Amino acid sequence: MTISYTILNHDLAEPVADLINFCFPDMTDEDRYVPEDLILMADIFAEGAIVALKEPRKVVVGFGAGIFTDLDWRNLPERESEILGDFCIHNHDPNGRFYYGSEFCVHPNYRRQRIGRKIYDLRKEVIVRNKKWGFFAASVLQGYSDYKHVLDIYEYLAKVESRDLYDPTLTMQLRNDFQLIGPIHKFFDHPPADHWSAFIYWGNPELGKSNYKEF
Ligand SMILES: CC(C)(COP(=O)(O)OP(=O)(O)OC[C@H]1O[C@@H](n2cnc3c(N)ncnc32)[C@H](O)[C@@H]1OP(=O)(O)O)[C@@H](O)C(=O)NCCC(=O)NCCS
Repeated sequence: MTISYTILNHDLAEPVADLINFCFPDMTDEDRYVPEDLILMADIFAEGAIVALKEPRKVVVGFGAGIFTDLDWRNLPERESEILGDFCIHNHDPNGRFYYGSEFCVHPNYRRQRIGRKIYDLRKEVIVRNKKWGFFAASVLQGYSDYKHVLDIYEYLAKVESRDLYDPTLTMQLRNDFQLIGPIHKFFDHPPADHWSAFIYWGNPELGKSNYKEF
């Protein structure tokens, strides 16, 4: 199977919207994407939005996007939407020191084939190329729903971090050299995990920004 990677453009807006909506079935109706959202994203910051295409017919199978922004991880806003702005893109600031990841998904039929890893690698290249400090994101804890009745969020994250438990999202992110900062509650709606997510960071090694506690 050959997968190619490109940046978002108008022609890809509809299939990318369909992919995101399919990959996040718990999303509320008001959060569901329409092609116009992706067109706006392509116009404002296409470089930061990576699309994975299955060759030869170029079927959209993966997507990862984000914005450049300045944020203080010790003092986050209540909701992720305050970081991203309208349509998950309007707060993009070319001068922001960080990349903040908004969407990240791979079609279920194509998972565990390192497409997600490649989408991360290409976004890390965007960060290095633009001399940004690093990559923040809030991890959708897809595995916590199975444990939320027996482990509190701190216990769950400690077990995922020590590799005693596997979380389909966070384990993959830790293996992609992200560091776990800690849990955040109601940053976005995700009922299966009781609205818990995990804040994570990857630092640009070329700028020596790996230790987020320094800033
Ligand atoms: C999170 C997500 C994007 C990952 O995409 P992906 O393409 O499956 O990611 P990768 O293939 O790079 O890595 C996933 C796992 O497959 C494993 N894998 C990849 N190729 C493999 C192979 N040939 N043999 C065995 N395992 C393999 C990876 O090692 C990794 O597992 P591990 O963490 O146990 O090592 C995808 O699971 C998804 O869309 N989830 C739903 C939406 C979501 O929650 N997104 C995250 C929002 S923060």
